[in-house]
This record gives sequence, structure tokens and C-alpha cells, in this order.
Amino acid sequence: MSERLRVGVIGAGVGKAHLAGYRACPEAELVALCDMDAERLKAVADQYQVPQRFTDYHEMLASAGIDAVSVALPNNLHAPVSIAAMKAGKHVLCEKPLAATLSDAEAMVAASQATGRKLMITFNYRYRGDAQYIKRMMEGGELGRVYHVRAGWMRRRGIPKPGGWFTRKAMSGGGPLIDLGVHILDLTMWFLGYPEVATVTGVTHNALASLGKGAAMPFRVQDYDVEDLAAAFLRLKNGASISLEISWASNSSASDDYFVHLRGDQRGAELTVHNYAREDTLRLYGDLDGQPVEFRPALPPTISGHEGAVREFLAAIREGREPSSPATQGLVISRLLDAIYRSAATGREIVLS
Ligand SMILES: NC(=O)c1ccc[n+]([C@@H]2O[C@H](COP(=O)([O-])OP(=O)(O)OC[C@H]3O[C@@H](n4cnc5c(N)ncnc54)[C@H](O)[C@@H]3O)[C@@H](O)[C@H]2O)c1
Repeated sequence: MSERLRVGVIGAGVGKAHLAGYRACPEAELVALCDMDAERLKAVADQYQVPQRFTDYHEMLASAGIDAVSVALPNNLHAPVSIAAMKAGKHVLCEKPLAATLSDAEAMVAASQATGRKLMITFNYRYRGDAQYIKRMMEGGELGRVYHVRAGWMRRRGIPKPGGWFTRKAMSGGGPLIDLGVHILDLTMWFLGYPEVATVTGVTHNALASLGKGAAMPFRVQDYDVEDLAAAFLRLKNGASISLEISWASNSSASDDYFVHLRGDQRGAELTVHNYAREDTLRLYGDLDGQPVEFRPALPPTISGHEGAVREFLAAIREGREPSSPATQGLVISRLLDAIYRSAATGREIVLS
């Protein structure tokens, strides 16, 4: 390994956020970018001054001068590209979800264990000041016993790039549940300390998209074969429960809003983020002198979530330790997503062993 970690990024969409993250880290040398779209590749590589450019990821992975890569490709490519990268000796920071299918997610974790390469999943919402504050409160036991969580991400008209890979199950693995729900399930599970889940009940609907509604632009309903709303109920082995509602398109008061509301027997915490707001997103509820009170805590500053993830990835490599969002946690979330989809398909509760 060279003195500075030599890194590459595969995928120039949200891959730009990874590039910006690496650019902000002096311990990393940004050497390569890959995207099959040559025009996008040139524009983004020029913007971030990346010297080596590839349209074929195999060629990029063959370069001995790269220690680690970010994989920011459509979901169905996370497994083949991450596994090829680890076999080529690179550490991998993979975008969410870990994979489009549970079996692919399992294969990725197995490849990380077999090659000894680090495999980290990008759960960038953890790095926000509000999420960090809740995590510290949870670690200090300040909410008491958290017995129920109500969480979700709701959009009114927010189907991403309809007709593209997001809305085709073969490439995405699913709709808003796997796209947005993955972040919400991770935040919830992370706050709770990744407890064991006993049972999962889920439903999915394709109500608005099947009418050609729900996106900023018109689209062909034939190009849309995923859900537009999912809801789920999870029972944890410790007796607590989680209810979830996730949508790209709904006739609702939402704009583009996510929430994680934790009900503890000493205090409640409500994280409510409207249109990616960074301030005034957290309320705490409890009693003072026997009276119900509401607190608005001063929050630590929010840095870019992708920069936070990149910093953690580089530190884990340097320090020879597990990253704080290892692929094994991404795999737990993939199991839950898979169980919600299976429950929705069969109309039955799924018991997780
Ligand atoms: N963490 C987050 O907040 C966040 C935000 C957006 C997207 N994502 C995730 O990032 C991933 C990419 O999403 P996106 O919005 O950037 O999608 P996108 O479609 O905008 O970009 C994907 C890029 O991959 C390129 N590509 C596709 N196949 C390729 C191949 N075989 N070889 C090389 N390049 C190839 C495309 O040309 C495109 O430029 C997805 O997994 C998505 O879930 C995460």
C-alpha cells in the first residue's frame, strides 16, 4: 500500500459525492474514475480533476495502483463489481442498498470474508448532527426503554428517473422500500443497536405509478414494475416494535420528508426532516416537575454524509479495523427488506430465525 491510499470511484452519478469526499481527505489520492457513459465520465473527471479515466471497470480494477474503490452503480451491479474489486485486492465502499437481492448481498459478505478486504456500506444519513445526537442519547440510555419506533420516508411526487433503472425491478431490486427504506431501516436499527428481529409483516402498493402519476415528468407505465408505497410492521425479539411507511408517490401532506420517532419510557425523540432540512429537526419529549415538556436540543453541525462515510472508510483501512457500517449490517437490512417483500407477495407474516 502506498503512503496515501490510492482510490477510485466507479459510477459518476452519486459517485460525485464520493469524489468530493475523497477530495476533502488529504490521506487519499484520487486516481481514477469509471463510468460507461463517456460524456458523463469526462465531465465529472474534469470537474474533480481525476487523472485516470475508464469506461470499463475491469480495466480499472486491473490497475495495481489502486488500493480502494467506491461502487456507485445501479443496485444490480453492486455485487458483481464489488466482488470483482475485492478479488482484485481492493477495499470497497459500496452504495446502498448492499445489493438488489438477498443472495447477492450474502455473496458480497462472503467475498469480503474470503479475500480479507474491507466492505463497507454507505449509510450516509448516520453522519448528520441530529442522528449523531440521537445515537449518543441512546448509548447513554437517556430515553429509557425504547419500546416502539414509528419511521418512514414519504414523498408526494418523487419517483426518481421513471423508466430508468430505479423503476425496473431487475436492476433496482424494488421501489421506494429498497431505495429510501434502506436508510430508514438502518437509522432505526442503528439507534436501537441492531437488535434481533423476530417477525416481519409487509405490504406493497403500486397505486399512483400504475396510473402514470407520481413523477415530475411523464413516463410509460410499462417501464415501472416496482411498488410506489410500502408499509411494514416488525416485532423485535426484545419485545419492541417498528412501524414503517415508505413512498415515492402519494396523495399526502409530504413533500420529501423522513422521520424516525422513538418512543421510550423515560423520553421520546422525534427526528423529522422536511426536504433535507439540516436545522431544528429534533424534538425530545418527557416530564419536568410532573409536567409534560418538549425540548429542542442544540445540534452538532452536520457534515456531508458521504464525506463522513468516506472518512470512516479510509480510517478503517488505515487502522486495520472494521468500519462502523460494515457490510454485515447492510446484509441484516437486506434480510429485512427481503422479508418485507416476501410478506407482501405471500400475504403472510415472515418469521425470521
Ligand atoms: N446514499 C445516497 O444518499 C444515495 C443517493 C443516490 C443514489 N444512491 C445509490 O447509488 C447508486 C447509483 O445511483 P445514482 O443515482 O448515481 O444512479 P445514476 O443512474 O445517476 O448513475 C449510475 C451511473 O453508473 C453508470 N453505469 C451503469 N452501468 C455501468 C457499468 N457497467 N460500468 C460503468 N458505469 C456504469 C451509468 O452510466 C451512470 O452514470 C445506487 O445504488 C443508488 O441506490 C445513494
